[in-house]
Amino acid sequence: MSSRKFFVGGNWKMNGSKGELDNLVNLLAKNSSETEVVVAPPFVFLDYLHNKKTNFGNNITNYIIFFIALSGQNCYKESKGAFTGEISPKMLKDVGADWVILGHSERRHVFGEKDDLIADKVAFALKEGLSVIFCIGEKIEERENNLTEKICFGQLGAIKDKIKDWSKIVVAYEPVWAIGTGKTATPEQAQEIHQALRKWLHDNISQDASNKTRILYGGSVTGANCKELAAKADIDGFLVGGASLKPEFANIVNSKN
Ligand code: 13P
Repeated sequence: MSSRKFFVGGNWKMNGSKGELDNLVNLLAKNSSETEVVVAPPFVFLDYLHNKKTNFGNNITNYIIFFIALSGQNCYKESKGAFTGEISPKMLKDVGADWVILGHSERRHVFGEKDDLIADKVAFALKEGLSVIFCIGEKIEERENNLTEKICFGQLGAIKDKIKDWSKIVVAYEPVWAIGTGKTATPEQAQEIHQALRKWLHDNISQDASNKTRILYGGSVTGANCKELAAKADIDGFLVGGASLKPEFANIVNSKN
């Protein structure tokens, strides 16, 4: 049995409204205490959820969110200044986030973020006291050309020299071809690359980082496929998009039970 605590992140992407948030949080009523749960709402709702965490009173919904950590979906590599549209790690912390997602494929491929910028952002977020869900993953043509490991190792390698402490990083392997497509990596495909990523951590960082770093799978995870994936030795949790907006998210959170 692995000593790595199972971790499930809900990446709500650009979805939801204040009215919908209460329902989403209620979905987690069956939350397993065995699982670390983090949700990443759009920035503008962080404060709303944070207030529920700090003023939960007798309200069951607010009580549930008390046990769930909050994450930003992105942040910049500077603490303040003339960077229209950006927010800093300090601002995320100020509205109750302990985590931030960086390197997500939508940031890489829709918004054109490159390895160098992502690495600077990861280093700065860690320095400012956030924990980081660091996403990597190959595109379909890269997989078809047997480049999956090369791409993922390259994305990890980009942060290697800028990061000293890996204890605040969770790696999310999210094959781009599986995100939002309904095409999940098979448990065997996912295990194969997770094992290779763990070996990369061993060879390039340390035995300790290899043993302790949680490696999540992301890409069309559902209530129906989560248990089989969760049973694999090197899958330490999930980063969930679409299904984190649905009742099945509770099943995913409890997939290890
Ligand atoms: P889906 O679960 O919708 O495929 O999204 C995965 C993802 O991008 C999580 O960050």
